[in-house]
Amino acid sequence: MSAAPRRIVIFGATSRIATEAARLWLARGVHLVLVARNAERLRMLNDDLSLRAGGLAEVDAVAADLAALEGLPTLWKSLSEQFADLDAVLIAHGSLPDQGRCEADPETMLREVRVNALSAMALLTAIANDFEARGSGTIGVIGSVAGDRGRKSNYVYGAAKGMLGLFLQGLRNRLHDKGVRVITFKPGFVITPMTQDFDRQGPLWVRPERVARGIVRAYRGGGEVVYLPWFWRPIMWVIRLTPERVFKRLSL
Ligand SMILES: NC(=O)c1ccc[n+]([C@@H]2O[C@H](COP(=O)([O-])OP(=O)(O)OC[C@H]3O[C@@H](n4cnc5c(N)ncnc54)[C@H](OP(=O)(O)O)[C@@H]3O)[C@@H](O)[C@H]2O)c1
Repeated sequence: MSAAPRRIVIFGATSRIATEAARLWLARGVHLVLVARNAERLRMLNDDLSLRAGGLAEVDAVAADLAALEGLPTLWKSLSEQFADLDAVLIAHGSLPDQGRCEADPETMLREVRVNALSAMALLTAIANDFEARGSGTIGVIGSVAGDRGRKSNYVYGAAKGMLGLFLQGLRNRLHDKGVRVITFKPGFVITPMTQDFDRQGPLWVRPERVARGIVRAYRGGGEVVYLPWFWRPIMWVIRLTPERVFKRLSL
């Protein structure tokens, strides 16, 4: 149950964090199935990784809009038929919304909840049943520390990641004696395209390579709720325990 994967599907493979994880897995000979929305970026990533693989690992690519929920069960079915030896998945896609736009427009808010929570939950429902039936597999999903507590500056994103975190908690509970591992990753502040508009100074900001190393390590064994880097665990412990009357006065 704690071995490295042999063939992994990465949803949202063009994400910077996922790309770094893919490179690390490739160097270990793990076969990759890349799923991403932007066909051109996916093609470039596939070319790059295939070149790096040098014939030692297989790389395949499938383009899909993961916000198109109704197509996701069929997408998983075709992936699991095409690649019978899949033993792991990483769900990495997401988007960091403009909180103000979400407050002004319910449609925008719902779109963000769909991409950050419902999409992964629809995929997980199909994947979990398959892995449970075969009695093995590792499921990893990138959530966020933002899902640990609602903050005025990004509570739509936080609520979506929080919902995803609860879903994963229940799924882990359901599958823990069925041979299937469920890992929730909770990165903090990571320097990727998602955060390009932020002032990314200070000791809490880390490079995606560091987060990717933590992800790859966790698939080989260890934690089930993995804060990345580790220092977010005590930080979020304090943030979760801060009384509401104090918390709402803070400018977070
Ligand atoms: N960066 C951070 O500080 C941070 C912190 C905590 C958690 N996270 C989480 O880490 C994960 C990876 O993010 P990142 O930081 O690596 O950012 P990123 O490089 O901007 O990646 C986001 C990815 O999500 C994909 N995506 C968005 N909507 C999609 C859709 N409908 N269908 C398919 N793919 C879609 C994007 O694809 P396109 O190329 O098609 O746009 C992009 O590849 C996300 O779940 C994010 O919420 C990030």
